Amino acid sequence: MKKPEAPKEPYKSTKKTPQLLRGMRDTLPKDDKYWRAVYGKAQELADAYGFGRIDTPILEEASLFTRAVGRQTDIVEKEMYVFEDKDGEKISLRPEATASVVRAYIQHGMLNLPQPVKLWYWGPMFRHDRPQAGRFRQFTQAGYEIIGDDSPVADAQVILVAYKFYTELGLPVNVQLNSIGTAEDRTRYKVELVNYYRANRSKLCDNCKVRLVKNPMRLLDCKEEGCQPIKENAPRILEFLAEESRKHFMSLLEYLDELSIPYFLNHTLVRGLDYYTKTVFEIWPEPFTPKAEPVAPVDAGPGAVLSVSGAVADETPIVIKEKEPKEAEEAKMPAQVALCGGGRYDLLVEELGGRPTPACGVAPGIERAVQQLRMRQLAVPEINKHELFVAQLGELAKRKALVLFEMLRLEKIPAAEAFSKGSLKFQLEAANEKKIPYALIIGQKEVIDKTVIIRDMDSGIQETVDFQKVVSAVKRKIGRE
Ligand code: HAM
Repeated sequence: MKKPEAPKEPYKSTKKTPQLLRGMRDTLPKDDKYWRAVYGKAQELADAYGFGRIDTPILEEASLFTRAVGRQTDIVEKEMYVFEDKDGEKISLRPEATASVVRAYIQHGMLNLPQPVKLWYWGPMFRHDRPQAGRFRQFTQAGYEIIGDDSPVADAQVILVAYKFYTELGLPVNVQLNSIGTAEDRTRYKVELVNYYRANRSKLCDNCKVRLVKNPMRLLDCKEEGCQPIKENAPRILEFLAEESRKHFMSLLEYLDELSIPYFLNHTLVRGLDYYTKTVFEIWPEPFTPKAEPVAPVDAGPGAVLSVSGAVADETPIVIKEKEPKEAEEAKMPAQVALCGGGRYDLLVEELGGRPTPACGVAPGIERAVQQLRMRQLAVPEINKHELFVAQLGELAKRKALVLFEMLRLEKIPAAEAFSKGSLKFQLEAANEKKIPYALIIGQKEVIDKTVIIRDMDSGIQETVDFQKVVSAVKRKIGRE
C-alpha cells in the first residue's frame, strides 16, 4: 500500500524558530517509557520504605542555598541561577532540594512529629554548569531524606534505597563511600591536610592554590591530572575520626555487609556541598569502575580501617574494599558519571534555624539513570501497547467508532485510532505498522446493522459481531476474560 506522498519542497519560513537554551533538553514521547519506569521505581521504593512525598517550590530565597550548600562551593559560587524578582528579592532556581526539604521540615513544624521524618521528592533542579555529556542546566532529581535519626542504620537505609533503585532497574552499580567526620574531626584533619598541601604548593593547579586558602577539603575533589598524585598521597580523613565518628562509620559498614551491598572506600570522596558530616557516598555505574567484584580484604594501608572498634561489636574484621589505583580508574571514567550522591547532614537543620536534628539522604539524578537504561538497552515496560485498532469509514461510522473507543477505554483496553483519516486502507496499514493484532471496523453497513467487524490482522479473517457484544468478544480474543 502506498503512503501519502510527503511534500517535495521543505517548508521555508522567514521567521526564526526560537532555540532550546544551552544545557536544557526536551524529553520526547520515545523516551517516556524510560522515565515512567524510573519514576515508578522511585515511587515504589518510597512507598516500601515509608517515605512521604514532599514537593517544594522551584524558586526559593537565594540565601537558603548560600547558607545550606555553602558560599564557597561550586554550586553556589559558579552554578546557581540567582536573580532579583520584581520586588527586588534575591531569589534562586533551586540547584538541589535537600535545603528546601529542611526548610519545609522546620517551617511546617515537622520537628514535632514522631521522628524520624522520612520524605521523598522528584523534580527539576537548575545549575548553570558547563553543559557536557550527562550534565545539564536543568535536570531532574529524585531524593530521599531521613530527618531526625542519628543512627547509622538510617545511613544504611538511604544507601540501600539508592542501591535498589538502580539494581532493580537492571543497572549494575557500586557504592563509593567515605566518612568526613564531624566539624571537629575536620578541623584536626584540615591542619594536616593544609600542611601537606603547602609542602606541595608549587605542583598544584591554580584552582587548588585557591582551595588551599579558601576551602581545603575541596582539594580532594580536584580532577586536574597534575594534582592526582598529590591527592592520592594526601593524609586520609578516616585516620582523623574521633571515636564516635569512627564507630558510626564501622557500624554503617556492618549494615552494608549484612545487606550484601558492595562498596569501595574512597578516601578522596568529599562531595561538593558543605552541609555534609560523617557519611558521604556516591553510586557509580559498574562499567566505568575498575572492578565489579568486591576484592579481598586489604592490608592496613594508610587510612584503611580493618576492624570494628570499641563497643560497636565483637572483633569480627570488616572487609574493606579498596579501589584500584586512581590512574587506572580515571582512564576509564568519563567525567561526571556519578549516578547519585548523598550523605549525612547533622548540622543543617540547626544551620537553617531549627532545633539541632541529625539527618541523612540521597538524590539520584534521573537523566543519568535514563541514559544508562538506554545505553544498555535494558528492557522497560512498553507503554500504550495497543491491542486493538478502531477503524471507521464514513461520517456516521466515525460517530459510532468514537463511542466504541470510549467503551474500550472504560474497560481499560488500550486501543489506537486514526479518527481524522477517511481511508480504510490507510487505517489498516497503520494498524499493521503498529503490529496491532485486531482491528475493529465500522462502515456504513455496520452502522445500519448495529454491528462491528473484528479483523484478525495476521490472517485477515473477519467476523461480524453485534455492537453491544463487541467488547466482550474482543476481551475473549485478547485474553482479558
Ligand atoms: P549532588 O551530588 O549535587 O547532590 O547531585 C545528585 C545527583 O544529581 C548527581 O549524582 C547527578 O546524578 C545529578 N546531577 C547533579 N548535577 C547534574 C547536572 N548538572 N546534570 C545532570 N545531573 C546532575 C545533591 O544534590 C544532594 N542534594 C544530594 C543529597 C540528598 N544529599 C543528601 N540528601
